[in-house]
Amino acid sequence: MKNIVILISGGGSNMAAIVRAAAREDWRRRLGAEVRAVISNRADAGGLAFAREQGLATEVVDHRPFAAREDFDAALAGAIDRHAPALVVLAGFMRILTPGFVARYAGRLLNIHPSLLPAFPGLHTHERAIAEGCRFAGATVHHVTAELDHGPIVDQAVVPILPGDTAQVLAARVLTQEHRLYPRAIAQVLANL
Ligand code: GAR
Repeated sequence: MKNIVILISGGGSNMAAIVRAAAREDWRRRLGAEVRAVISNRADAGGLAFAREQGLATEVVDHRPFAAREDFDAALAGAIDRHAPALVVLAGFMRILTPGFVARYAGRLLNIHPSLLPAFPGLHTHERAIAEGCRFAGATVHHVTAELDHGPIVDQAVVPILPGDTAQVLAARVLTQEHRLYPRAIAQVLANL
């Protein structure tokens, strides 16, 4: 079995979508993979309760006691490696990772970003897409490299931006598609691992 470890910071709806997809018998049979653990840098991350209900191992590695990013990343890697993951999945994990951490998981570290990369890396993607007059928005699953929100694209989902859209309305439209995109992209990467 190929183990998947998911990192979250918040609501964890993408994590829940991945867990549900991975629990399906055909997924397990076809990909020989299962979600083993959900790790958060925040104890109050809403997604932790769902993960516990699903019987998954959960762990909190709070970033705040660590003075240096390298030290937090070393503690995080320790927690991750206990589950011997084939794939590490960032799902709304809102910490910038050090080059050393990224190198450790090279080729098996994925992120989802709420824009059509390479457009709009960073924060406030939906506000910026609306302000630029974009007609389309979306989400991107990509391999994580040392440069924030860069790295080879695995797959994307596209949604229209409609007249009168607020950032919240657009975010909800994109998030619905993220829940379909991320499991599909993970399956594609797992098939080649
Ligand atoms: C998602 O929209 C994801 O694309 C975004 O945070 C949200 C997490 O929602 N990620 C980033 O902005 C990463 N820079 P979730 O916790 O419900 O999955």
